[in-house]
Amino acid sequence: MIETIKKRRSIRSYKDAPLKEDHLNTILEAAIYAPSGMNYQTWHFTAILNAEKLVELNRLIKQAFAKSDEPRLQERGNNPDYCCYYHAPALVIVSNEPTQWWAPMDCACAIENMFLAATSVDVASCWINQLGTTCDDTDVRAFITSLGVPAHHQVYGCVALGYAAANAPLKDKKLQPDTITIVR
Ligand SMILES: Cc1cc2nc3c(=O)[nH]c(=O)nc-3n(C[C@H](O)[C@H](O)[C@H](O)COP(=O)(O)O)c2cc1C
Repeated sequence: MIETIKKRRSIRSYKDAPLKEDHLNTILEAAIYAPSGMNYQTWHFTAILNAEKLVELNRLIKQAFAKSDEPRLQERGNNPDYCCYYHAPALVIVSNEPTQWWAPMDCACAIENMFLAATSVDVASCWINQLGTTCDDTDVRAFITSLGVPAHHQVYGCVALGYAAANAPLKDKKLQPDTITIVR
């Protein structure tokens, strides 16, 4: 487990190959075994393997970005090459009831479980955040509802999954000093 934790990295370049069904099932099973506040398990995992639907989702996210007041988001929205999920063959939308304050923590636990399960079967992954801020845009919401995201859910993160492209670049991983205190 410690080896898997240290091996996991965010991968942003994927082979043009579908995610194998057994890999998807392993990863989704790991998600639902995560801890959750009061064991409520109110989360939902919407796995999209359909390339056309992913392209449409990216288009709608960009459309929402283009309407933003933030220049950085506007730039992404108007950039024809911008793909928030890095053309991964699979994306899992992780959503939850926003009424419980621990909803985002539950989702983060499930997402990390997915990352570690993916790493353990040599599936590459990355947290994709863009739907978190755009899920209440009218067009984005209508589309994700059609995909199966419960209408009253907030999206807390997405997980891109696939097989790492050869020589997929890795950002340097420098651990910050002084982030642990041990009191004896
Ligand atoms: C809450 C959260 C949001 C993130 N959002 C994105 C994202 O939208 N796109 C992306 O490429 N990486 C995203 N990341 C990945 C981080 O950039 C990455 O974990 C960090 O650079 C450390 O690299 P590593 O995952 O390879 O160890 C996110 C990570 C977290 C925990």
